Amino acid sequence: MKIGIDKIGFYTPHIYVDMNKLAVARNVEPEKFTIGIGQDKMAVPPITQDSVTLGANAALEIIDQADKEAIDFVIFGTETGIDHSKSGAVYIHHLLGLKPNARCVEVKHACYGATAGIQMAKGHVALNPESKVLVIGSDIARYGLNTGGESTQGAGAVALLISANPRIMTLENKSVSLTADIMDFWRPLYSDKALVDGKFSNEQYISFFQKVWEKYKEETGMDLEDFEAICYHLPYTKMGLKAMRTVLGDAPEEVQERLKEHYRISTLYNRNVGNIYTGSLYLSLLSLLELNDDIKAGSRIGMFSYGSGAVGEFFSGILEENYKEHLLVKEHKDLFESRKEVTVEEYEQIFEKTLPTDGSNIELDINEDSATICLSGLTDDMRQYVNKMR
Ligand code: HMG
Repeated sequence: MKIGIDKIGFYTPHIYVDMNKLAVARNVEPEKFTIGIGQDKMAVPPITQDSVTLGANAALEIIDQADKEAIDFVIFGTETGIDHSKSGAVYIHHLLGLKPNARCVEVKHACYGATAGIQMAKGHVALNPESKVLVIGSDIARYGLNTGGESTQGAGAVALLISANPRIMTLENKSVSLTADIMDFWRPLYSDKALVDGKFSNEQYISFFQKVWEKYKEETGMDLEDFEAICYHLPYTKMGLKAMRTVLGDAPEEVQERLKEHYRISTLYNRNVGNIYTGSLYLSLLSLLELNDDIKAGSRIGMFSYGSGAVGEFFSGILEENYKEHLLVKEHKDLFESRKEVTVEEYEQIFEKTLPTDGSNIELDINEDSATICLSGLTDDMRQYVNKMR
């Protein structure tokens, strides 16, 4: 039975900061951010968006009535969850109006959470072929103003509907995972900002990629020529390229050129959003699928997932006949075009504005936020969400 990605939804906040202007404000040459890091715009989450609302907004654009009846499992991958106990998946289940007889959980391992969710979803559909599983990767990447990681922040979510006989991509069964207990990036429970050893995290990302790729080749007998493209977890768009360059050497020239060009296309959305942690690999896949004009059905796409701490995995999928017809290219073009720029000063004010942590209530103005689903406040320590369509 074929199991894989049937639909892909995406959401990112309606405001962004320009990386050239951020560079000037930080006394850095703009090319460091736009070429060295590879980012043009960075999504800025207003206080009315959190990982739950971002995820719910991404899912909203793909779920129809038939899906609502078939979804019996919601897996919410995030490392910026909003509660230590209750899963964000339950809020999303409610906000989308899914059927009561569904299972809902939150999955965490840094940027690897959504991939873990997809692998669980595959197993669930294999046992229950009529089921559909909603897997969401949603995060707000926060390092802090004036920190080394600041230029690699971002916010957004990708929602994937996993089913039998998928219309976009069948996921192949072979995958290679790798786990090692390292401290390259982490976020203690008391902190709303990530801690990171930047250089070490880059080295580990590359080393994990090399190890899972070598083992994948050994176990499958496949090589670079068997892939039309390889998508990477993209904390910033230069990162995947740095990893890919280390293995390109032996491939024929035309394979190298093809992989580099498809890599470029796979980074275009991420370039304008920033790191969305666990959704980043799937945003890159979406960018490739929606923006390429030469990748045919039947092509194999490789995927490298990396979550600091660290877990890595290499796996692959085969594109389905007419996959392009099932993508929301126009909707995503409109989403990008409708965003508004904020100044660096405005971004800093938005960044500093956080929810109370002393138990006091707050009511938020959701009229400024163009999203359908918003956080409208905190009452008695409970987040209040609004779906403006209801
Ligand atoms: P940094 O010290 O600001 O930058 O840290 P740098 O000095 O390393 O420079 C970056 C690049 O810009 C270099 O290119 C420079 O040469 C270039 P490279 O040599 O690396 O190819 N550069 C210029 N290029 C053109 N014109 C110029 C210019 N100046 C310099 N004028 C770092 C960068 C990414 C380390 C930092 O931003 C950081 O710590 N970010 C957060 C950590 C991170 O993203 N790590 C990635 C791997 S770990 C991962 O992916 C997991 C993660 O997503 C979390 C999770 O799993 O949950 C982070």
